[in-house]
Amino acid sequence: MPAKSRIRKAVLPVAGLGTRFWPATKAIPKEMLPIVDTPAIQFIVEEAVQSGIEEIIFVTSAGKESIAQHFALVPQLEKTFRDRGLSELADGCRKLSELAKFTFVMQSAPLGLGHAVLTAAAAVGDEPFAVMLGDEIMHGSPPCLQELIQTYESRQVSTVAIMEVAPEAVSRYGIVDGSELSPGLIQIKTLVEKPKPESAPSRWAIPGRYVFSPKIFSYLEQTGPGVSGEIQLTDAMIALARSEGILGKTFSARRFDTGEPLGMIEAVLYHASQRPELRAGLRQILESARSQVNDGTASLMKEVKDENIF
Ligand code: G1P
Repeated sequence: MPAKSRIRKAVLPVAGLGTRFWPATKAIPKEMLPIVDTPAIQFIVEEAVQSGIEEIIFVTSAGKESIAQHFALVPQLEKTFRDRGLSELADGCRKLSELAKFTFVMQSAPLGLGHAVLTAAAAVGDEPFAVMLGDEIMHGSPPCLQELIQTYESRQVSTVAIMEVAPEAVSRYGIVDGSELSPGLIQIKTLVEKPKPESAPSRWAIPGRYVFSPKIFSYLEQTGPGVSGEIQLTDAMIALARSEGILGKTFSARRFDTGEPLGMIEAVLYHASQRPELRAGLRQILESARSQVNDGTASLMKEVKDENIF
């Protein structure tokens, strides 16, 4: 296998405005919102590192400085923790900065996901690489990206994660049209970005983990505005699927859609449930939340009935 076929770099686009989490995102990047006590972006960096990635390339924008700060070596903070006998925190502080090499490139304007990935072209160079979207947190072993990298390395063809979604959800994703080579492995013929349910070619969605050959950059250079007037990664993928080919692969990790409030709540609850010291308290909270939700639903139903809405 040629040396350059190893996947060493991952591009993480983090320049988005985070409108679905306004006003939290006025001053805090959405990637820094905590899942219990860990910023969402840290889970993605950890997935990358566990999958063998050595360099993280953040595509960033103004106002996202705290992401760099989170992964920076801060000797003064480390020293303060050590001086106070908080050696675990001091070690954690150092480990964060040593997870990978961190590179930052600025996206000049919010022109779309395809444009964000193209912005990282010089930092990636002429080698295959991963793209990981910050709105998805994957939990479980093997890491989702690692499964894609293994497929790339054995077949030497771009490989993206796929998952089956409900018909009403297809309009939120890039959707794949292809043929199954073996269970869970699809040869992608083409893709449609956010189709209407009635025109979707399948229910196979691409949830934001990709491994690309560097050829994707030449297609991105030729890609004009697509759906929502943005330069879409999906459009460049259509050209790549036609020339070199792209595989779609299912994965075993559990996915949380932290790009929207309910997915974020689910991720927080799940991660809290994995922490033995939080479990008993969490159970109590969930029990009282259940009765509050039931009360809320009952009063909503009453309002609907009283006002004869239906
Ligand atoms: C982007 C991609 C889409 C993909 C989705 C996964 O859309 O354009 O193809 O399925 O991420 O979350 P966005 O959610 O940024 O609108």
